[in-house]
Amino acid sequence: MGTGATGEWRGWRTATEAALYGPGGFYRRSEGPAGHFRTSVHASALFAGAVARLLGRVDDALGRPATLDFVDMAAGRGELATGVLAALPTDVQARTRAYAVEVADRPDGLDHRIEWLTEPPRGITGLLFANEWLDNVPVEVAEVDPAGEARLVLVRDDGQERLGEPVGGAGARWLERWWPLPPEEGLRAEIGAPRDEAWASAVAAVERGLAVAVDYAHTVGTRPLCGTLTGFREGRETAPVPDGSCDITAHVALDACALPGAHLVPQREALRALGITGARPPLALASTDPVAYVRALASAGEAAELTAAGGLGDFGWLLQPVGIPDPLATAVRSPV
Ligand SMILES: C[S@@+](CC[C@H](N)C(=O)[O-])C[C@H]1O[C@@H](n2cnc3c(N)ncnc32)[C@H](O)[C@@H]1O
Repeated sequence: MGTGATGEWRGWRTATEAALYGPGGFYRRSEGPAGHFRTSVHASALFAGAVARLLGRVDDALGRPATLDFVDMAAGRGELATGVLAALPTDVQARTRAYAVEVADRPDGLDHRIEWLTEPPRGITGLLFANEWLDNVPVEVAEVDPAGEARLVLVRDDGQERLGEPVGGAGARWLERWWPLPPEEGLRAEIGAPRDEAWASAVAAVERGLAVAVDYAHTVGTRPLCGTLTGFREGRETAPVPDGSCDITAHVALDACALPGAHLVPQREALRALGITGARPPLALASTDPVAYVRALASAGEAAELTAAGGLGDFGWLLQPVGIPDPLATAVRSPV
């Protein structure tokens, strides 16, 4: 259990912090995120391959420095860093320093070339890639009361909720700017300010290169009416109960996280620009080279999952170049 005693009413931010990252918290458990849900990283090695190609573009934009950094931010068990190293061309791999930044302990058997840290290294020259990090940065939840006022939602560690104080100060300002709540009882919003701060601090670690945050996202004008706070346990969506037994996640207001010069693009477009098309192999290949055909078909299926509408393809990629041109400029549709 990562939380206080049942019966204690706390804001969702404090309750989630304890449930996910406190002693015995959900993300400190041995099975890791892959034991409970499937990210793009787990879905297919094609994803790490695409990120490796993105690192190659960053390398070119940087003028191929003597050392090139790759930072797997919120690394889970380091699966993306491992996959990226494996997918890099030998000459780039030899110049690459790979880091995994994680709250959880270094897993046994991880490639010795990957340095395991609890904070991003400073002065990164290269690519910092945060896949499904910000959705796990704990936030407060606001709900409109019968009088039309936004109040903080308090929760016990059995998941029961009640309304607390009116939202004031920085939280109220964030809501007004990024997620205005009409005065209708029951409407809810997640106050994303801690994610904006977390992202700004990760970007600040990049001296030159690119920072990318990938998450289920929404933008002003498409915010969900009742928020998206939910739980995951052993592959299933479940009620969010802050007792350390399940993941607690909420989609990310990536437009609020964006710093000047950022672009937001759907995963399907980002991956297409990095060579993942999902095209099925020509049927003729089945007779000329059946093994290659089967392999290409499996790869097309994995690409389809990574780019699917209503699924991983809808994720947002927030691209934040630092001192280089945006290496995915051709895929960029939505400046934020
Ligand atoms: C949903 S998992 C994603 C893991 C991996 N990036 C992937 O896509 O498979 C979120 C991970 O973020 C880690 N995390 C959350 N906040 C963090 C922080 N401030 N620093 C480092 N890791 C963090 C959690 O421990 C967890 O392993």
